[in-house]
Amino acid sequence: MSDSDRLPRAILVTGAAGRLGTQVTNYLSKALSEGRIERLRLLDIQEMAKPHDRAEVMRASLADRGTAFAAVEGMDAVIHFAGISGEDEWEKLLPANIAACAHLWDAAVAHGTDRILFASSNHAVGMYPVSERIDHTAPPFADSRYGVAKAFTEEMARLYAHKTPLRSFCMRIGSSFPAVTATRHLKTFQSFDDLVRLVEVGLTADYRFEIVYGLSDIADGYWDNSNAFLLGYGPKDRPADFVSGTLNPHESPYQGGSMATDPLPGITPPGRSPDGAR
Ligand SMILES: NC(=O)c1ccc[n+]([C@@H]2O[C@H](COP(=O)([O-])OP(=O)(O)OC[C@H]3O[C@@H](n4cnc5c(N)ncnc54)[C@H](O)[C@@H]3O)[C@@H](O)[C@H]2O)c1
Repeated sequence: MSDSDRLPRAILVTGAAGRLGTQVTNYLSKALSEGRIERLRLLDIQEMAKPHDRAEVMRASLADRGTAFAAVEGMDAVIHFAGISGEDEWEKLLPANIAACAHLWDAAVAHGTDRILFASSNHAVGMYPVSERIDHTAPPFADSRYGVAKAFTEEMARLYAHKTPLRSFCMRIGSSFPAVTATRHLKTFQSFDDLVRLVEVGLTADYRFEIVYGLSDIADGYWDNSNAFLLGYGPKDRPADFVSGTLNPHESPYQGGSMATDPLPGITPPGRSPDGAR
C-alpha cells in the first residue's frame, strides 16, 4: 500500500527533544546522512543538541501561531510529538495540546504540506473497559483532559483530510518506553524500534486519514491493529522481552489504566477531597 518507498523530501519533527521525538530524530538523521531525505527540521520548546550538522533546529513554542507557520514552511511532512505528555490542568493543555495543533494543521494546509503524523494516545479511548477489544473505528472515549485533547486533534485531522489536501495519520500510541514496568504494559507496549517502524509507514503509505494503534507485537491486547497491518506495519518486538523488575499484578477496569480512575487535577467537587475520595 506504499505511495512510494521514498521518504518525503523535507520533514519537520516537533517535540524533537522529547523521549519519542529523540528516537525518530535519530532515525531521520541517519536518513539525512544516507541521502534518503534532503531536509530535517527539529522543533522543541526545550533546548536540544543538534543531531546532524545539516539539521535545522528551532527552539520555540507551537502555542504561538507564527511559530507554527514558520516551522512548517518548506516541509513535505510533519511528525507531531510536541505537547504536554500527560494529564494536566486546562491552563497548560489548551495552549500546548489544542491551540498548537490548530495552528499546526492550519499552517500545513497554508504551506501545502502533504501529511501530518500525529502522536495521538490510547488515552483518547482510555475509558473503554479492558473486557472490550476495539479497533481504529472505535469513537473516542477519553479518560482524561489529556485524552480529550488528543480526541480533539484526531477529529480536526479527519475534518482537514476531507476539506483540504492535507492527509493525517493518527497514531494512538500505547506505552512507548524503554522497558515494560507495569502489568498493563503487556497489553499496551510499543518498543522504540516498532514506533519508528510505524512512523515509516505513516511517512510512505497511501491514505487520506487513518487511525492506527502504536503497539508492538501483541495479539491479545485491547486493540485490534489490523488497519495498521493493512497499511504495511509489521511490529517485530514483544513486550515480554522488555520486562524490567517485578510487575504489579493490579489491572485497572479501564484500558487507560490509572489515568481513567484518577480525579481531574485542579478542581474538587463539593464534599470530596482533592484525591477524588468522598
Ligand atoms: N511515550 C508514550 O508512551 C506516549 C503514549 C501516547 C502518546 N504519546 C504522545 O507522544 C508525544 C511524545 O511523547 P514523549 O513520551 O516523547 O513525551 P515528552 O514529554 O518526552 O516529549 C514532548 C516534547 O514536547 C515538547 N513540548 C511541549 N510543549 C511544547 C510546545 N508548546 N511547543 C513545542 N514543544 C513543546 C517538550 O519540551 C518535550 O520535549 C506526546 O504528544 C505524547 O502525548 C506518548
